[in-house]
Amino acid sequence: MNTLDGFRFDWVARCLHWGMAILLLAMVGWGFYAARLNFYDPLYHRALSWHRSLGVLLFGILLLRIVWRLLHRPAPLPDHMPAWERHAAHWVQWALYLCMVLLPVTGYAISTADGRGVDVFGWWELPAWLPPDKGRETWMGTTHWIVSILFCLSVIMHVTAALKHHFVDRDAILRRMW
Ligand code: HEM
Repeated sequence: MNTLDGFRFDWVARCLHWGMAILLLAMVGWGFYAARLNFYDPLYHRALSWHRSLGVLLFGILLLRIVWRLLHRPAPLPDHMPAWERHAAHWVQWALYLCMVLLPVTGYAISTADGRGVDVFGWWELPAWLPPDKGRETWMGTTHWIVSILFCLSVIMHVTAALKHHFVDRDAILRRMW
């Protein structure tokens, strides 16, 4: 019998999971790189402009993912999982969702601090709904950085747990998302 029967995530959830995982990790690396470029570096504005555009796009995909997740509840965790591991998995998943929301929101708050909207791939402009405030750029920049670090830590815990289930416990947790 296939141990994944009735236990696997549907293909939409799997595409959203792996597609977003790749794009979010690229965004973290790209963000750290772009933020450390010199203002006069020819790449500075282009790198940040792509970072902002992709971030807005990811936020849209995140909203779709949240709707999909609310409409399609995942199969329960296997019975052999101890309670502490269930709690840990639950909290890390919440931390991941919280960071995925806070990163674009704080990024938007930094980018609109001068009163200008966010140009998205040159296709359209996301208006600046918040009032201009130059000081916001600094403290929201720090918040964006802190959330990025928390996001990386949550991803490390999440990946470590998935690998432990696959190679040590040898259960179907990783395969059901694959
Ligand atoms: C969606 C996921 C996102 C991730 C994972 C992400 C990640 C990062 C990271 C790691 C940095 C470097 C932080 C630092 O070293 O100070 C950064 C910088 C930055 N991000 Fe994002 N970001 C995201 C979304 C956005 C969005 C949607 C915007 C704007 C609409 C944005 C605007 C910025 C700006 C302007 C900086 C430079 C901040 C500075 O120079 O202090 N980010 N981002």
